[in-house]
Amino acid sequence: MVSALAVSLAALLHVGSAAPFTWGYLPEPIVPADNPLTPAKVVLGKRLFHEARLSVTGTYTCASCHHPDRYFTDGLATAVGALGDHLPLNTPTLYFSAFNASLGWLESGPTTLEEQHRTPLLSRNPVEMGFQPNNLPLLRGDASYPALFAEAFGDSEISTETIIKALASYVRSLTPPVTAFDRYLFEDDAQGMSMDARAGMDLFFSERLGCGECHASLALSGPISHSVQQANPVFHVMGVSGNAAALRAPTLRYITHTAPYMHDGSIPSLHAVLEHYQTQPSPRVPAFRLTADETRQLLAFLHTL
Ligand code: HEC
Ligand code: HEC
Repeated sequence: MVSALAVSLAALLHVGSAAPFTWGYLPEPIVPADNPLTPAKVVLGKRLFHEARLSVTGTYTCASCHHPDRYFTDGLATAVGALGDHLPLNTPTLYFSAFNASLGWLESGPTTLEEQHRTPLLSRNPVEMGFQPNNLPLLRGDASYPALFAEAFGDSEISTETIIKALASYVRSLTPPVTAFDRYLFEDDAQGMSMDARAGMDLFFSERLGCGECHASLALSGPISHSVQQANPVFHVMGVSGNAAALRAPTLRYITHTAPYMHDGSIPSLHAVLEHYQTQPSPRVPAFRLTADETRQLLAFLHTL
């Protein structure tokens, strides 16, 4: 427990300076030198995140898959694009994306939001948004955009590059909601942490279960980077659905709100995830069997995240 969270606690000593933004108990994320974070870009990026004119059908947005009221997920096993194309992967939350050492589930994932956003905007196979440069006149036709772009970039010209920079600024600005787990760790407030949840936390970080080996840091995920400490991405072969590819351990924050689970959404409930870990041997997960009490405790802990 202590070692798994040490990075985040150390980071706390360096309170972020990027006012007016805040990332809860995390320090500032790393921001590329050519895309400084400003309130004007965040305002524009949020608007574009919900802008259907960025899609080939004029009906689809980033939020069609990353619903803000579903913790930026969609409740589907695997995502569906604007033209009905089926993606092979489950839509992840965007909280903590600004901190992930690599983005997406796969080892081939990009390392900056700017690079990542090209895929949903521009990919042709499968089509996600199906944005094309000939969508730009549609945006230019909206009288409110030139001023928003001018404020964000000092120039009213609208381009694919500035759209991507604004979107990345919005995603980078997302404040991870504070949960019972944060209040317990940082505010000495145990109200949201039942005895069961605390016993579940001990199990989670125990050597016997080893969950905290991969779901680490304050994001309870694969390695995260920020202005205080940088980390290299790590990937594990877990064999979910027989997949032999190495995957990044996703964040377990808000996990009760982001079912179904795993890269392909193949596991419907947290109870079933725990069953999976007990019945599917994986070289990096110790063999263990939970009693009914322990299962209840571990689930209670996951509910505090
Ligand atoms: C068709 C559904 C869909 C749409 C539309 C979509 N996404 Fe995604 N998004 C996904 C899926 C699926 C992944 C996982 C991709 C992977 O693992 O390679 C993902 C991954 C991401 C990630 C990486 C998250 C992380 O922390 O690892 C970011 C950031 C992101 N999307 C932002 C956006 C933005 C910005 C838009 C709008 C331009 C957008 N997405 C549109 C489905 C979608
Ligand atoms: C060896 C590293 C490793 C260990 C140990 C590990 N996990 Fe995971 N976990 C992963 C990876 C990688 C995935 C994604 C697998 C996939 O999608 O196929 C994952 C996925 C999950 C998910 C689904 C998350 C989502 O958003 O879909 C949950 C829940 C989870 N793990 C809980 C646990 C618990 C509880 C333990 C301890 C019993 C544990 N993990 C141990 C690496 C690990």
